[in-house]
Amino acid sequence: SSLKLYVDSLPAIPKIYGYSNESGTPKSTTLTIGMFAKKWKFHRDLPSTTVFVFGTSADTATFPGPVIEALQGVPLYVKWENHLPQAHILPWDKTIPTAIPRNAGVPAVVHLHGGVNEPQSDGSAFAWFTPGYREKGEAWSKEVYTYPNVQHPGNLLYHDHALGLTRINLLAGLLGAYVIRNPKVEHPFGLPSGDLYDRHLILADRSFNADGSIYMNKTGNNPSIHPQWQPEYFGDAIVVNGKAWPYLKVRRRKYRFRITNVSNARHFLLALSNGLPFIVVGSDSSYLSAPVRTATILLAPAEGFDVVIDFSKATAGEAELTNSAPYPYPGGIATDLPNSRVMKFIIAAGNAKDESRIPTNLASYSAAKTSDASVKRYITLYEYMSATDGPTHLYINGKRFTDPVTEKPKAGSTEVWEVINLTADHHPLHIHLAVFQAIKAREIVDLETFKNCMTQFKDAVKCNISSHATGKILNIPAHEKTWKNVVKIEPGHMTTIVVKFRLVDTDEPYPFDATAQPGYVYHCHILDHEDNEMIRPMNLVK
Ligand code: C2O
Ligand code: CU
Repeated sequence: SSLKLYVDSLPAIPKIYGYSNESGTPKSTTLTIGMFAKKWKFHRDLPSTTVFVFGTSADTATFPGPVIEALQGVPLYVKWENHLPQAHILPWDKTIPTAIPRNAGVPAVVHLHGGVNEPQSDGSAFAWFTPGYREKGEAWSKEVYTYPNVQHPGNLLYHDHALGLTRINLLAGLLGAYVIRNPKVEHPFGLPSGDLYDRHLILADRSFNADGSIYMNKTGNNPSIHPQWQPEYFGDAIVVNGKAWPYLKVRRRKYRFRITNVSNARHFLLALSNGLPFIVVGSDSSYLSAPVRTATILLAPAEGFDVVIDFSKATAGEAELTNSAPYPYPGGIATDLPNSRVMKFIIAAGNAKDESRIPTNLASYSAAKTSDASVKRYITLYEYMSATDGPTHLYINGKRFTDPVTEKPKAGSTEVWEVINLTADHHPLHIHLAVFQAIKAREIVDLETFKNCMTQFKDAVKCNISSHATGKILNIPAHEKTWKNVVKIEPGHMTTIVVKFRLVDTDEPYPFDATAQPGYVYHCHILDHEDNEMIRPMNLVK
């Protein structure tokens, strides 16, 4: 891409409020949010192009969608409306299990990622619907979703989750941020606040055609099997809040950035060019117990870090936000010039007034202890290769998405998941409803023998995992030690995860029936993997 870097200023994403405040006490409200086709300009020198985006109207819809502001304990109801056109703007593949757009328009359904919600409002991949509900998936049950906002304050995402179309619906722009706040808990932290100093940075990679449209390859790696599906989408331009390589003018003071990676498959290994550290205060939907200073943060797809950057400590007038994660991660191509740059901060001269601070302690949640677990599960990630052209599909536990449910955790319980990665890639694991923490990752020794056994029997115990998961221990970085919604699953390792199916700030069970149909899912959040079967159902039981 020959586009010039840092010519557009970083857009501030519009906000919509998920509560009403008329009487002085926040009250529940119902929002209507639509999905629209509209024109969007990704860069000063690119023509505008059609995207699919969220908004309260086509005029106000944005890439990414508006930030939804919710309050802990104040339920929000959302009517998600599908106003998408007849045809998709991107190529898709009918040979992977997919909600097939017929003549009724593009199918979509909305999932609140990181949300603690009843199954009927979770945005099941089978609950998709087309404009005017002319066609609906088999799990569709209602028009208005309920978000009780019972969980602790933090950063969530809303995005499309339609069967087999998630990767192209998100590429087209069907994504946005959602924040749950609790001033009583958060105000005492004293972190930078207000629209100027507390901002989202929503990172995504995209490639563009000369006419400004989003480029996606039309031909798959294995066209005789999948005419279009590719194992990972990578774009050479880095888009932040809807603009490619923007700049932000900042004052010499502290800023809070809620950084989220909404790329299909790209990881970001972020750093600041002038050596300023990130002061990490949270990850995904949870605060850390105390701030952690670090020079780099690795963001997998759908992962988020809530950081403070103190520009008053900058010696230069500028700081570039850089990326050095190979793609695919970790064994892929090194970043080249355009995708190794994310955005630029232009730092004003002269110190600015700043009453914010970095607190010593943040939130305290119940601890992640394997001894709390009532069940231990082995979850194995497989990649299936064609003889000549690389991957054809990916499975969890050797099973398809539509195979019978095997994961049935008890509502209120804690489990240990030993996640075994037999592939060469890193997979960001996302479990709906639950929060979870990786405790450690252990290298699998004699991997080939173990792999061969697993290919034959698909049973980690039978293949003697305990004698293989004995290699080097990878420690989890301090800034990832909290209750997360995405954990990184290293290739050739077994990662031990504590999974909690209850609230972590109060340690209470869910105040709704989590055992209802259509249940939940867990999956890899590389969207191209998720769409080609690296996803499994999960039903909670009493
Ligand atoms: Cu962020 Cu099942 O998704
Ligand atoms: Cu994956």
